[in-house]
Amino acid sequence: MAETLVQVSDLKVHFPIGRSLFKDGVTLKAVDGVSLDIARGEVVGLVGESGSGKTTLGRALLRLIEPTEGSVRFDGTEVVGLPPRDLKALRSRMQIIFQDPYASLNPRMSVGQIIGEALHLHSIGTRADRDERVGDLLEKVGLPRTAAARFPHEFSGGQRQRIGIARALAVNPDFIVADEPVSALDVSIQAQIINLLQDLRQELGLSILFIGHDLSVIEFLCDRVVVMYLGHVMETATAADLYTQPRHPYTRSLLDAAPVPNPRAKRDRIMLKGDLPSPINPPSGCVFRTRCPFAIEACAQVEPALETVGPRHAVACIRQAELNLME
Ligand SMILES: Nc1ncnc2c1ncn2[C@@H]1O[C@H](COP(=O)(O)OP(=O)(O)OP(=O)(O)O)[C@@H](O)[C@H]1O
Ligand code: SF4
Ligand SMILES: [Mg+2]
Repeated sequence: MAETLVQVSDLKVHFPIGRSLFKDGVTLKAVDGVSLDIARGEVVGLVGESGSGKTTLGRALLRLIEPTEGSVRFDGTEVVGLPPRDLKALRSRMQIIFQDPYASLNPRMSVGQIIGEALHLHSIGTRADRDERVGDLLEKVGLPRTAAARFPHEFSGGQRQRIGIARALAVNPDFIVADEPVSALDVSIQAQIINLLQDLRQELGLSILFIGHDLSVIEFLCDRVVVMYLGHVMETATAADLYTQPRHPYTRSLLDAAPVPNPRAKRDRIMLKGDLPSPINPPSGCVFRTRCPFAIEACAQVEPALETVGPRHAVACIRQAELNLME
C-alpha cells in the first residue's frame, strides 16, 4: 500500500453569511465533515454537481481558504493552524492549477516572471538558475523557451493553461490541486492538456486532486474517485469500481446522466430532479434524501457514515446493502 501524503479528517468549511454588527446572519456549510486520503503518486478525482463544495475543499487543503474545523495532514504535518512561516515552507510542496487560464495569469507580468515568481518567493537558486529552470519548465509543458519573454495575452487558452501548469510545477511540488483545469478550454484542446497532466504525473510521481465534471476525463486520469454532494462525501472507490459498480444512488444518477458508455444504460436509470438544496439549510439526516428515489423515513433521522463495502470502496447510504441486492 502506497504511503499516505494527504490525510483529511472531518474537515469543515463554514462561511458566515450576512453577519454584521446588528445582525446574526446564517452559516453556509460548503464543506461539512469530509474525510479522505491521497497516497503519494495517486491521482484522485473529485466530482459532484456545481455548488457541492469541490473548490472550497480543494482550496481548504492548501489553506487558501481557512478551514473551520477538522484536520489536514500533509506528509505528517498538520496544516490547519500552522503558523504563516511554516505554512510558506509547506506551500512549495502543494500547488494549485486554476480553472480559468485567462483570469489566473497576471497580464502585466511576462511569462518568465509568472513562472519564476514562486522560485523567487521561496529564494530558490540565483537569477540565472531561475531563468534556466523557467526555460526547462516551458519545454516540459510543450512551449518554446522563448515564451518566457512574452506576455499572457499573446497566448491561446490552451497555451495559457500550460503556463499555469509550469507555474505550479516550478517549485517541484509533491501535491497539486487541479480545479477543473480544462473546463474553460475548447474541447479540441482539452485532450492535449489532459495528456500533458498524465505524462507529468507519471514522470514526476505527483499526487493530484483533480476536480472535474467530465466523468470520462476523470476515468482516464484518476486512480480513485471521490463523489461529493452538498459538502459531504457520498462514495469513494477506485475509478474502475466506481464506473462498473456504483453503490450510492447519487453516484448512479451522475453516471446515468453522463454521455459516456454506461453498463447501466439498459437498466433503470436514476434521473436527478430539482436543484441542489441550499447549504445554508441542508436536509436533516442524509443530505441527498430530498432528491433520492429510494429515500425512506429513516433517511431523515440518521446521517449516514461512510461504510467500507469493498477494497478501497466506501459508501454513505443507510440502504446501500439492500439497494445493492435489488440491482
Ligand atoms: N467565499 C464564500 N463565501 C460564501 N459562500 C461561498 C464562498 N465560496 C463558496 N461559497 C458557497 O459554497 C458552496 C460550495 O461552493 P464551491 O465553489 O466550493 O462549489 P463547487 O463544487 O466547486 O462548484 P462548481 O462546480 O460550480 O465549481 C456554494 O454554495 C457556494 O455558493
Ligand atoms: S441514505 Fe436514504 S436518502 Fe440517502 S442515499 Fe441512501 S437511500 Fe437515499
Ligand atoms: Mg468549483
